[in-house]
Amino acid sequence: MLAQGMERADQGASRYYETYARWRRDPEGFWADAARVIDWFEPPQRIFDPSLGVYGRWFPDAICNTCHNAVDRHVIAGRGADTAIIYDSPVTGTKRRISYLELQQEVEALAAVLLDLGVTRGDRVILYMPMVPEAVFGMLACARIGAIHSVVFGGFAAKELATRIDDAKPKVILSASCGIEGNRIISYKPLLDGAIELAMAKPAACLILQRPQAVAAVTTGLDHDWSESAAAARQAKRQVPCVPLAATDPLYILYTSGTTGRPKGVVRDNGGHMVALAWTMDNHYGVAPGEVFWAASDVGWVVGHSYIVYAPLVYGCTTILYEGKPIGTPDAGAFWRVASEHGVCSLFTAPTAFRAIRKEDPEAKLLKPYDLSKFRSLFLAGERADPDTVKWAESILGVPVIDHWWQTETGWAIAGNPLGLGALPVKHGSPTVPMPGYDVQVLDEGGRSVPADVMGAIAVKLPLPPGTLTTLWNAEERFRESYLTAYPGFYNTSDAGYIDSDGYVFVMGRTDDIINVAGHRLSTGGMEEVLASHPAVAECAVIGVRDELKGEVPCGFVVLKAGMSRPPQEIEAELVAAVRERIGPVAAFKVAVVVDRLPKTRSGKILRGTMKKIADGEPWTMPATIEDPASLDEISGALKTRGLPVG
Ligand code: COA
Ligand code: AMP
Repeated sequence: MLAQGMERADQGASRYYETYARWRRDPEGFWADAARVIDWFEPPQRIFDPSLGVYGRWFPDAICNTCHNAVDRHVIAGRGADTAIIYDSPVTGTKRRISYLELQQEVEALAAVLLDLGVTRGDRVILYMPMVPEAVFGMLACARIGAIHSVVFGGFAAKELATRIDDAKPKVILSASCGIEGNRIISYKPLLDGAIELAMAKPAACLILQRPQAVAAVTTGLDHDWSESAAAARQAKRQVPCVPLAATDPLYILYTSGTTGRPKGVVRDNGGHMVALAWTMDNHYGVAPGEVFWAASDVGWVVGHSYIVYAPLVYGCTTILYEGKPIGTPDAGAFWRVASEHGVCSLFTAPTAFRAIRKEDPEAKLLKPYDLSKFRSLFLAGERADPDTVKWAESILGVPVIDHWWQTETGWAIAGNPLGLGALPVKHGSPTVPMPGYDVQVLDEGGRSVPADVMGAIAVKLPLPPGTLTTLWNAEERFRESYLTAYPGFYNTSDAGYIDSDGYVFVMGRTDDIINVAGHRLSTGGMEEVLASHPAVAECAVIGVRDELKGEVPCGFVVLKAGMSRPPQEIEAELVAAVRERIGPVAAFKVAVVVDRLPKTRSGKILRGTMKKIADGEPWTMPATIEDPASLDEISGALKTRGLPVG
């Protein structure tokens, strides 16, 4: 169906259709060509081996090192003086340019420190870091020596960090004394110490970057001072060569929300990852080596891994590491200031950032003073790009605004509008067309492909392309169950949507309990686990409620145990605090509502879908299977008393 749609669509000036058709005709030839831009220690003889791994492995006999490609080879090529990283931190008033040569020196020194701490190839290293250059040095130092990094976003609480420590069992943890959120200083060290105490698996050492905004007390025997250790290694001119690794060796584990409170450790390899990312920089983002590319995300998210760190550096661009927010640091002109000051050609962020800017500065008055003559494109991802926000961004910037759809699991866009190949006409509300490598199909419940414009489950025919997850860390069976069993022969994206008759993909929402809060992926199941563990709670349900700024925010409904005499407001406040304490502020869980009962079907299933429609102010119909229709009125009533919109 998709192929037919594509034949019908305007062939125009874009090279997209011929490129996609070329990939379809000869996937291995396509990726073999793409692989030529990578500097291999031993180039691949075999491109894909379907007999390896869960669904096959890419470049199984190649030998490479990601750090070599992201750093050393640019220095060897004579580009050592070119800027690799621009660190722009309005929250600390710091700007720093780091050349490729300096990056090499920093990474090599840190790699030496890691080796001294006993880290060797295949060991895991967790990073719990704010947006500082040392976070990037840490990731690359791991890549250099073949250690597997796992970055944990700073907005997660100690308990979440502990869960990841127990799963990854890191030999070393890299952290900093604090992060800075707007004008608030968040001490990381107590969170780190708390997590280590909670975890069963104890690291052998922690390397702590002391920041002057809040110097941490060194409380445990595990701690080493980052700056002192790295300075000593630099002074000693320690040389740490890039370790030759199998292309299929893991580069990193990135935990993402699963359908329960237990996060999934997405495993990324070295070779396929570099090949896919380098292909996207040229063909999708349409940037050239040496240009300034800015992903305004966080290194704790997949966008940060792929487009702050690996893709721009492997491709030889300058990347921006921005420690600030779209608003409030100091105002809604922050993005324009950074883009203009550093000559950014392409910005990648989440729609929520633009909604935030628009709310503060609807006429984009703060854009006017800035020269954005180098600025060519805005890419949006992380959540559905609502047409209103896209149109506003187009109108104020006057450049292509490209929605593209991807997931932590895939590491790069499943669907997008490939500027490098020539832009296709934009249809607002659609991330455009599948990228080469992805045979995207919409399936019905029986796993059959549905006609154009019909909603269904969006799935990708196996094998997945290079750069996508190879498995889940320590959980191959969970990988099969989560992604591969629902539709045999396909990867189940857990997104629902449709493909129109021009082959454009429309992604409308998740089919599981994942919600998207300010571009951050969260599991409502995980929040329900926290609520259910409160001694006063008998049962609960958490749903994602539409929010003008964040897209969605969680809202919890709880039924208290019989005979509970404490004031409900007191318990509600405790529940809000518990989610913040156990999951973290990033959950943005601010509303818990005590109700007498939850609406259920006669077979006892909680009617979350209908509750969500009521809370979103959408029209809804009474489910035929409901146990007691009055229970839904009670939900509306409870929401109304809190001033929330009700349908
Ligand atoms: N460390 C500690 N706390 C953090 C944190 C971090 N790295 N990141 C966020 N938090 C905290 C925030 O301070 C906030 O705390 P609060 O409840 O005490 O105010 C809470 O987590 C929720 O954060 P967030 O949802 O980001 O809300 P916000 O009001 O601070 O900012 C936006 C709203 C829209 C400006 C912001 O979410 C944003 O810039 N989003 C872009 C999304 C993005 O980069 N997504 C990545 C994929 S592209
Ligand atoms: P994450 O793994 O955090 O990147 O979140 C992935 C999920 O975010 C996807 O499964 C989608 O539900 C949603 N998502 C990301 N990008 C888009 C997009 N461009 N359009 C619609 N949904 C998106």
